[in-house]
Amino acid sequence: MKTVSKISDLREALKPFRLQGKRISFVPTMGNLHDGHISLVHEARKHADIVVSSIFVNPLQFGANEDLDNYPKTLKQDQALLEANQCDLLFAPTVSEMYPNGKGIETLVEAPGLSNIYCGASRPGHFRGVATVVTKLFGIVQPDVAVFGQKDYQQLAVIRQITADLSLPVTIIGVETARNDHGLALSSRNGYLNNAQLRTATNLFKILNWTKSEIISGTRDYIALQEEASRKLQQAGFEPDYFHICRQQDLLPATYQDSDLVILAAAQMGPARLIDNLTFCLD
Ligand code: PAJ
Repeated sequence: MKTVSKISDLREALKPFRLQGKRISFVPTMGNLHDGHISLVHEARKHADIVVSSIFVNPLQFGANEDLDNYPKTLKQDQALLEANQCDLLFAPTVSEMYPNGKGIETLVEAPGLSNIYCGASRPGHFRGVATVVTKLFGIVQPDVAVFGQKDYQQLAVIRQITADLSLPVTIIGVETARNDHGLALSSRNGYLNNAQLRTATNLFKILNWTKSEIISGTRDYIALQEEASRKLQQAGFEPDYFHICRQQDLLPATYQDSDLVILAAAQMGPARLIDNLTFCLD
């Protein structure tokens, strides 16, 4: 696997494949890779001849009081993992390569409706940063297919929205959340937790499943259910940020008439802000 850090080198490396008519798939990441990221690389391989991944901790999507400076950087380990999983090319640019004028950029990409709720309400500007860097990475890599995790359900919805609205010629694929044996969604931010917090953190998925089973067994007072679930999170040692029962198609609050549901949750566990979700359909 080749690693390049310059946009021009990436374009050069991809040129022969493009001329041969090869399909290119793309897995953008911020590094510190785990099995969740690797499952995206495997999915990417199913859809294309050439798999490109990127590692870039994008300052534009971090708020002033967030963990940009502490975000784990493990490039050597990530390269070995990508190589072992048949990634063909890694793009690992510096901040100045991506944003030559400093952290700022003149052109911003935004999907206002979806970006300002849930995680967007708690992290103002976050999804604008994600949408901008993903659009820029799409412009750099020009993939046929790009693969994202359903773990970041709202992020995936924002990316689908900008791709459709801007007619970007990229097929977006979502991949199921990879979890540890206890159900905790794999996340680079789990590395901030000690063993006791890691054990407690598994309650997030348990409470999502409890809520799902309440809905499946007929509970339709979603407001009361959300409140009860938030109380459970608090009792388990979380500081809940939000817990919402939503419609899959537009993430609006679900009503009793909706059948394709996603429960979205975010909660602070010690030093880590964890997010998770559960999708299911009622028949
Ligand atoms: P990062 O958090 O590194 O995640 C990169 C990709 O891996 C995202 O599509 C994310 O949804 C997916 N992912 C993370 N944990 C996962 C898990 N447990 N199971 C399956 N997929 C998982 O998300 C970002 O980076 C950035 O916002 C990015 C899209 C790269 C833009 O900067």
